[in-house]
Amino acid sequence: MKLAVLVAVSAAAALSVAILPNGTTRAASTSVSFSAAQAAAGAKAYTQSCASCHGVKLSGVSAPALAGSTSGIAQQSVVEVYEYVSQQMPMTAPGSLSKAQYLSIVAYILQKNGHTAGTRRLTEAAATTATASVATKP
Ligand code: HEC
Repeated sequence: MKLAVLVAVSAAAALSVAILPNGTTRAASTSVSFSAAQAAAGAKAYTQSCASCHGVKLSGVSAPALAGSTSGIAQQSVVEVYEYVSQQMPMTAPGSLSKAQYLSIVAYILQKNGHTAGTRRLTEAAATTATASVATKP
């Protein structure tokens, strides 16, 4: 019995997928990594392109807060936030930043939500498959 449960659980894990907004699926990754340098670059890009509406401390001004356990994105996954941000933001000029800028901004948002920088940069492949939650605490 126990074995059957184990097999079922690992099969589900192996089949776990990230469902992208365009309906396609990719193998999901539950962890996410970014580098400190990337987050620092993201902080600059965020200040230029996002802070006017979302606040210099990500606490929200005319737009929702992007940090903290009560923010709207806390329960969202990294892939959801990356896809949304890179396609819909900045509100007044969607898609106007470079891919590298969007990735670094998401790294910065993750850092501000309590994720620790590592040695590997956040790549587009990772950002479009990471089902890890933006919030670090449930
Ligand atoms: C001109 C103002 C403005 C700018 C600049 C802007 N945003 Fe937004 N953003 C908004 C508004 C307004 C919403 C809420 C949209 C809605 O609820 O439909 C939003 C929503 C979001 C959300 C979803 C929040 C949630 O609770 O689900 C994220 C993430 C986000 N913005 C990130 C960014 C990032 C990153 C940038 C910079 C690249 C940026 N925004 C620039 C106005 C702005």
